[in-house]
Amino acid sequence: MERLQKVIANSGYCSRRKAEELILNGHVFVDGVRVTELGVKVNGNSAIQIDGVTLKTEAKEYILFYKPRSVICSVSDEKNRKTVVDLVKSDKRIYPVGRLDYDTTGVLLLTNDGELSNLLISPKSHVSKTYVAKVSGCFKKDDAKIMATGVEIDGYTTKKCNVKIKRYDKKNNVTFVEVTLYEGKNHQVKKMFEALGFMVIKLKREMFAFLTLDGLSSGQYRYLTIKEVHKLYSLVQQKKS
Ligand code: URA
Repeated sequence: MERLQKVIANSGYCSRRKAEELILNGHVFVDGVRVTELGVKVNGNSAIQIDGVTLKTEAKEYILFYKPRSVICSVSDEKNRKTVVDLVKSDKRIYPVGRLDYDTTGVLLLTNDGELSNLLISPKSHVSKTYVAKVSGCFKKDDAKIMATGVEIDGYTTKKCNVKIKRYDKKNNVTFVEVTLYEGKNHQVKKMFEALGFMVIKLKREMFAFLTLDGLSSGQYRYLTIKEVHKLYSLVQQKKS
């Protein structure tokens, strides 16, 4: 049994918040009875109607996208900028799992599976995300040690992470640093470097959990295999218990 608003959202009909509004405003019927409270749970056999239309559960879709630069990580944009959803051809109501900044490139998952998406982005999930940052100046081993232990960003001390210096380009005075995080705050990588006095010039996410960009060029995408979807579920469900 699951909460009605969750079932509606997971069907791809609308977001969970919108589903709550629809319920509270009396648009939703379960087995012919109008529901106007949020506590109601339903099972797979319940017939759900919204404004007279029977809810169909959409087949789940899981896409691994190589996000290019200058694309907004959202379903729509008020400034009419190109969004990740514009670049992935799908007739499903897919949306990005978490966020990458407008200028960040790399691995991005898109899905209409609200349950998996919520589990992956939950602060409890600790799914690893590996980035390579090109930063201004010479980032030294001592900086890496401090960053790996935790730095303060917006009054929050970041959790332990892995930091590896890949290469220092003396001519251009920039360093390439690999950072693996097990949490995901807004603009976290940029803010962590900033906290230590380094500016991120370029940022690419090379891995999300075990998923890499192998075989994809910027702007391309592929569907996850069933095995990969199961593996993602088992990762987050282990962490939940
Ligand atoms: N950290 C950032 O600063 N930006 C991103 O896009 C992702 C992680």
